[in-house]
Amino acid sequence: MTATDRRQILVTNALPYANAALHLGHILEYTQSDIFVRFQKMRGHECYYMSADDAHGTAIMLRADQRGISAEQHIAEMKETHQADFADFHIGVDAYHSTHSEENRELSELIYNRLFDGGYIAQREITQAFDPDKGLFLADRYIKGSCPKCRAEGQYGDNCEVCSATYAATDLIDPVSVLSGATPVEKASTHYFFKLPEFSDYLKTWTRSGTIADEVANKLAEWLDGGLQEWDISRDAPYFGFEIPNAPGKYFYVWLDAPIGYMAAFKHFCATSGVDFDRYWAADSSAELHHFIGKDIVNFHALFWPAMLDAAGFRTPTKVAVHGFVTVDGKKMSKSRGTFINARSYLDHLDPEYLRYYYAAKLTGRVEDVDLNLADFIAKVNSDLVGKVVNIASRCAKFIALHGGQLSGEIAEPALWAEASGAAETIADHFENLNYARAMRDIMALADQANEYIAAREPWKLNKDPANAAKVVAICSMGINLFRVIVTYLKPVLPEMVARAEAFLNDSLSWESAAAPLLNHRVAEFSPLLSRVDPAAVEAMVAANASPAEPVAAPSGPLADEPLAEQISFDDFIKVDLRVAKIVAASAVEGADKLLQLTLDIGGEQRNVFSGIKSSYSPEQLVGRLTVLAANLAPRKMRFGVSEGMVLAAGDQHGIYLLEPDSGAQPGQRIT
Ligand code: MSP
Ligand code: ZN
Repeated sequence: MTATDRRQILVTNALPYANAALHLGHILEYTQSDIFVRFQKMRGHECYYMSADDAHGTAIMLRADQRGISAEQHIAEMKETHQADFADFHIGVDAYHSTHSEENRELSELIYNRLFDGGYIAQREITQAFDPDKGLFLADRYIKGSCPKCRAEGQYGDNCEVCSATYAATDLIDPVSVLSGATPVEKASTHYFFKLPEFSDYLKTWTRSGTIADEVANKLAEWLDGGLQEWDISRDAPYFGFEIPNAPGKYFYVWLDAPIGYMAAFKHFCATSGVDFDRYWAADSSAELHHFIGKDIVNFHALFWPAMLDAAGFRTPTKVAVHGFVTVDGKKMSKSRGTFINARSYLDHLDPEYLRYYYAAKLTGRVEDVDLNLADFIAKVNSDLVGKVVNIASRCAKFIALHGGQLSGEIAEPALWAEASGAAETIADHFENLNYARAMRDIMALADQANEYIAAREPWKLNKDPANAAKVVAICSMGINLFRVIVTYLKPVLPEMVARAEAFLNDSLSWESAAAPLLNHRVAEFSPLLSRVDPAAVEAMVAANASPAEPVAAPSGPLADEPLAEQISFDDFIKVDLRVAKIVAASAVEGADKLLQLTLDIGGEQRNVFSGIKSSYSPEQLVGRLTVLAANLAPRKMRFGVSEGMVLAAGDQHGIYLLEPDSGAQPGQRIT
């Protein structure tokens, strides 16, 4: 490679939030970027790979509170677990930093000051819900109340799960703060805004300049054409983040300093490696900048971020690669179904390279979701990696060893060699375009050819006659050279397995290795390269994730989404009169998508109650069942009639679960 061919490439993946453990969705993204980086490095380019924990924001502050530790301690622990998980999945970052770092503070201030000086920051007062007990402004998701339209209770934020109405969270009836149970008050405060609309034309061009896939640009065009809004980049104290320069008590919104975290990680890396920061970030930089992200955070990376960089006089991304979401057995990852697979629990049971290969075989570079079908996962890894690739070497190695451990001096089948070796550029293009699925298909086709070649020559038969020794060595040397080309192409995907193959081959593989065969070359002793996926281990992993007893690094799940309300006294509790109730009739409610009308018997008295459980229960299913009624709740007039109390149910976006007393309970019994 000449100096002018050598590209400078900086790669990032989205920075995981420091409030939860990593799951197999995260691992998809980091596998995608890691393969890209390993590929570029193998090709001889200068390529650096940066990541960090995204450590700021209200959720992280509350999580630390909940754990009774400081935010600093909490994020330090999370960072350690994240890094260990990544390392064990062979994610080879060159630096792993934190957005809560001095480099990030400096860069965030620098960029903000440049935006401010450029006239791109607006200030104005806005009114928001405020929790007077906690002394916190409340984001919508922290407010709960009854829908102003259908009056369904227990609705969060700005939309109703029952009637699908959208409104301002402050319009909820009887709103309460999820954090304290207090009634939110309206409070005014000055906020700082980034004048995004001024970049509208710039972004219309930028998003169509090869930086993002058309399918993503089309989606963004809907926003761009609809008119952009100014972006609120400030949050009031208390907030875990960086204070805004010359704005005491105001903090940068987490999403302002999160992408700047990419630069901060690189700055941190430059300090120890001697790499020049400006060569990668100056406005006229000729280096490439590639961001890998999921489809849920496109607006931050393809609208706000390039606009900010441009306004602050830095270079903008070369490419924003967007991937879809991981589903498990065709379903959204869900804790209750056991399909929410924690990264560490995968590692406890299975080899990370199985998943790296499976994801590679599924990633096309398009935005579509990636299904981890567990049966297919077992079958594909076993058939492709063990049955095809490893098989080539294990069949040939023993005959080479038998005859002195030295490969022959020429290639037995030049046409076959030329085909495998000649695939290098096409496969490289697939890696470059993130179409790893195509690359894996092409590689497996070469493995099939190699196996067919060996099967047709039958060295195990020839070897029975000592006179055939040279022939046997020639065939098996050919096989091993094909194997070597194949593992060269697989090296970005399977670094550990290929390292074991390199030890056997007694060779270190770069992309160039595919160009010429190993002749008259001594190989080492062969040891197993990869074992088959054990279906029992997959089952054990699924079971571990379904079990609520599985220890996780930090609380996550429903409790994290909805932290416990403030402590109450027994006297407070006993004010709520909970009764066993028997559902004697149930019917759908005309005009309400999600409501059922229930007639409840509470031992000598009947109640009419509307409940938003239609998505999970049909009326017939409910009749005759026992449940629990909050019986002394003031009656509530709804559009469809008066609701006399509330039945107890748990729920989230995946389902609603009605509470049911154990058998033997009698309607009307009080629950204490
Ligand atoms: N902290 C922000 C990113 C800031 S980047 C400056 C964030 N963090 S995250 O932990 O929620 O997500 C990190 C990445 O993982 C995102 O790109 C997100 O799209 C991706 N994924 C999260 N769940 C996923 C799946 N189920 N499947 C695939 N990727 C998923 O967003
Ligand atoms: Zn509603």
